[in-house]
Order: sequence, then structure tokens, then C-alpha cells
Amino acid sequence: MVQARKWVYAHEYDGQPQTSNLQLVTENIPDTLQDGEVLCEAVFLSVDPYMRLFKVAVGDVMQGEQVARVTASKSDSFPVGMMVLARLGWRSHTIVSNTSILEQLPPLGELPASLALGAVGMPGMTAYFGVEEILKPVQGETVLVNAAAGAVGSLVGQMAKIKGCKVIGYAGTKEKCDWLKDELGFDAVFNYKETKLQDSIKEAAPEGVDCYFDNVGGEFSSTVMFNIKQFGRIAVCGQIDEYRYDGKPQTGPLVYGQMLIKQLTMKGFMCRHYFQHWPEAKLQVINWIKQGKLKYRETITEGFENMAEAFVGLFHGANTGKAIVKV
Ligand SMILES: NC(=O)c1ccc[n+]([C@@H]2O[C@H](COP(=O)([O-])OP(=O)(O)OC[C@H]3O[C@@H](n4cnc5c(N)ncnc54)[C@H](OP(=O)(O)O)[C@@H]3O)[C@@H](O)[C@H]2O)c1
Repeated sequence: MVQARKWVYAHEYDGQPQTSNLQLVTENIPDTLQDGEVLCEAVFLSVDPYMRLFKVAVGDVMQGEQVARVTASKSDSFPVGMMVLARLGWRSHTIVSNTSILEQLPPLGELPASLALGAVGMPGMTAYFGVEEILKPVQGETVLVNAAAGAVGSLVGQMAKIKGCKVIGYAGTKEKCDWLKDELGFDAVFNYKETKLQDSIKEAAPEGVDCYFDNVGGEFSSTVMFNIKQFGRIAVCGQIDEYRYDGKPQTGPLVYGQMLIKQLTMKGFMCRHYFQHWPEAKLQVINWIKQGKLKYRETITEGFENMAEAFVGLFHGANTGKAIVKV
């Protein structure tokens, strides 16, 4: 028997996630495999805001992606020692019978394998397709992004810079703002907890912004909508400020008049929609990283037993760049 651990969604959320909503459970899984099966041992696991939005049922294992090492195998395609990427949930060990769910890691070369969960994984693809396919900013345009020091936002701003845009970012601490401005080359950065949003947009973009990459929603978005230029574009990527309400409608300024008079385009998108194009996009991101055009950060929490804490931290700004758990 192999002693395995898993995290279970134990108690319904009431607002923001708390560590008490989740429970660490130990279980024994067999160490003998059937033909075609492999045993995967988690190396890096991802915690993401969507795990609050798309809840599993109470009692179920938390869902999510991990980079795992094959530690026992009865499959020729997945030999012992191979590293794989898979949605195996918050599990330390998993016996996989259907190996079609296992993906090879992207060709990272010397780059860390954890990037397959971040810049060269789902968040990186979200930034890439949100910029390339939804906003389509052109040289000289102004792009505003919030949660700008996070996994998606930090890449969005840099991708817009690569396209020759002016980038305005919002993040929740001075350290994050300094990183965006000094190291990532954002043109203007504000701590949204200490600045009046309306005033800061007027200061950085007196004429308004052309593109808005929205990771936050809520009141933040309502204010931005009044500061977008004629024919502006809005990519609705995430609404982290609203997940705690579990879909209950929130009141706020009505923005449809702004959409009408300025002839704005707003589009929600899910990164998986572009899944068949991910391989080329991952190669592009890897090249940008190797060329020094795209920088990344990871906030690594050590220990599988600390996954709940890492997850809860996302909603309090504990991470800079991608939040990763290292087993
Ligand atoms: N559409 C898609 O396919 C897709 C895919 C991936 C992610 N997303 C969405 O994109 C957004 C960013 O995801 P991510 O993985 O990159 O997470 P992340 O930005 O790495 O982590 C969340 C960050 O959001 C900020 N934040 C938390 N609560 C906030 C609030 N109420 N108001 C303003 N900022 C808040 C915090 O930073 P501060 O210190 O700056 O507050 C925190 O560090 C999320 O909304 C997520 O659901 C969408």
C-alpha cells in the first residue's frame, strides 16, 4: 500500500474561502498496478481562483492541475521517472488507468517544470489568448489590467508591452507595484487599495484607455467602464472580487449606457476555448522567456499539507506571480 494524501471540500464556503472549508485526508492506495496503469506522485500543484468559482460538491476531492512524476508504471508510453501534466486534483498520489488524461510537459528545456502550471500553462495561455484574440491591442494603444501582479495579469501587461502598448496596472501592495514598474516595465502602476481609481486612470490616461483586461470585476470594473475610449475593448477574464457572492447578483452602477454611447466591445472568454492552439502559444511564451522579453515570478508554498493556506492566500493577495505548491 502507498500512503497518499488528498484535500477534500469539507464545508460549504460562506464568502471568501477559509482553510476550515477544506480537509486533509490520508488514505492507502494499492501499490500493485493493472496493465496500462501508472502511479503519479505530485511534485508541483496549482492553486487558482477558479477553484472558488467552480466548486466541487461537499465531500469531493478539490480539483486542479499538477505536475507529477511517474513513480510506477505498467504503460510503455509513461515510463517511471517521466514528468507529466494532468488534472489529478489535490492528491499527492494517483493511480491513473486512463492515461489519455496525462500530458507531456511543454519543451521547457532548462526552465523549471512548475512553469507548466503558470506562464507556460493555463494562466499563460489565458493571458496570451486574452491579449491576442480578445483585446487585439495595437502599438500606441493603452491597456489597463488589474490583479496585475498575479499569474495572468503580470503576463498580460508584458504581452501588451511587447506589442508596443502603454500599460497601466493595478495591484494590492507597494512591493507588487514596484516589481511591475521597475522590473516588468509597466508604464504606470497603482496600489488600488490606496488610490482613488477614477483619479489614477485620469492621471495615467487622461484620454481614457483603449483596452481593459479585467481579472477583478465588481466596483473596479464599473469605474473603468466610465474611462474607456470610443470603440474600446474589454476582455472579461475573471471576477475575483465577486466569487465570494456565489453568483448572487450585486448592485452597482449600470454600465450599458457607456457601452452604447462609446460603442464598446466586451467579451468574456475561457482559456480552454483556444486549447487546440495552446502548443504554438506555449512555444511563443517559452521563446519570449528565453529572450528575456517575458519575466515571471512564482510564489511557492512548501508542503502538500499547506495547500489550503496557499489557496486561501489568493483572495488576500498573498501571491506575486503564480501561486504554486511544492510537495
Ligand atoms: N477566463 C479564464 O479562462 C481564466 C483563466 C485563469 C484565470 N482567470 C481569472 O483571472 C483572474 C486572475 O487569476 P490568476 O490565476 O492570475 O490569479 P492571481 O492574480 O495570481 O491571484 C489572485 C490575485 O488577485 C488579487 N485579488 C484578490 N482579491 C481581489 C479583489 N477583491 N480585488 C482586486 N484584486 C484582488 C490579489 O492580488 P492583489 O495583492 O493585487 O490584491 C491576488 O494575488 C481571476 O479572476 C481568475 O479567476 C480566468
